[in-house]
Amino acid sequence: MQGRFHFYEGYPMSDVVLPVQVMADLGAKTLIVSNAAGGVNTNFSPGDLMLIDDHINHMHSHPLIGPNDDTIGPRFPDMSTAYDRAYKQLAKQEAEKLGLQLKEGVYVGTTGPTYETPAEVRMFRTLGADAVGMSTVPEVIVAVHRNMRVLGISCISNAAAGILDQPLSHEEVIETTNEVKGNFLTLVRAIVRSI
Ligand code: HPA
Repeated sequence: MQGRFHFYEGYPMSDVVLPVQVMADLGAKTLIVSNAAGGVNTNFSPGDLMLIDDHINHMHSHPLIGPNDDTIGPRFPDMSTAYDRAYKQLAKQEAEKLGLQLKEGVYVGTTGPTYETPAEVRMFRTLGADAVGMSTVPEVIVAVHRNMRVLGISCISNAAAGILDQPLSHEEVIETTNEVKGNFLTLVRAIVRSI
């Protein structure tokens, strides 16, 4: 996909995850998901790529609320290994072969559309998050429900609010993601080749 439907745009969760449902219906067994995210971990720099080790759903909503179709997936899906272990290993191996530094961490998904306050960023750090963004969590939940294997990579587009004494802007996010695009594509191509 080029782009996605975000919860903050006003789409219901069912629309946000519809593309993943369609992919699963078409027989896709793997979901590779990417996003731009703010670096909550102070060891991260703009331009870093972060392998998503796990996530925190902080969207105050959930795409699987409602009746469950047991023929599609379980009522209470296990999220212990939402991000496929073997794929994470593979991504690390391919990054190393390419000489690309790949950070690793926990992604926390918020609704947006505001960026976080510095206090929220401190809270997320305390909760164990390394990066914060406004997407991905609903899609990954649905992919896991559908028994797809998931690999996630975040582009750290900016230091999260309050880390640097400067305002956040969408322009900075776009600029950094454009700079990293080449490395990101090289890595994803290498991963896809070896899957
Ligand atoms: N916060 C939330 N979402 C984001 C950020 C951020 O700092 N950067 C890019 N997406």
